[in-house]
Amino acid sequence: MQYNITQAQLGVRPNVLIPSSKVYEELRETGIRKMVSDHYDLLVQSEIKNLFPPTPELVEIAKKNAADFFVQICGGEPHFSKNRGAPKMGMRHAPFKITQNARKIWLQTYKEVLRKQDISEEAKQSFWNYLDIFSIWMMNSAE
Ligand code: HEM
Repeated sequence: MQYNITQAQLGVRPNVLIPSSKVYEELRETGIRKMVSDHYDLLVQSEIKNLFPPTPELVEIAKKNAADFFVQICGGEPHFSKNRGAPKMGMRHAPFKITQNARKIWLQTYKEVLRKQDISEEAKQSFWNYLDIFSIWMMNSAE
């Protein structure tokens, strides 16, 4: 397993491959929701906690919206489009200052959660590769 963090350049959006269908087959909706929830629990204690909602109630809403997206992108029900509309992820992240360093911390906290998932190496690698590349799209600020 390679938890690579690709060197990124602000404003350059590399092509991204959506996660393998194995991710959804192995984690299902429940597993994806739990993984996203665990990721937020780390984010709100991290060096970039100021980017994320300040109260447990708001964090619950953030977890739901993020999980809706990850379920959808992994091939499950299109909850995000139904509840929030077009994904437009770059645009949705525009209000937040997302630097290379913020991306790195976001990915590192995801790694902590992903490495504990009881799924195949292939599913894990595919999901990681998706996060590594797509997170570059969210970068919008210099350090
Ligand atoms: C694979 C990369 C990423 C995906 C798929 C993703 C997905 C999402 C989704 C679906 C939302 C909810 C948007 C809405 O409902 O309007 C969201 C919100 C947010 N994301 Fe990301 N994100 C990614 C990377 C990042 C990174 C790298 C950061 C910062 C380091 C970040 C910070 C935020 C913040 C601050 C919010 C708003 C608060 C919240 O709802 O949590 N995201 N993200």
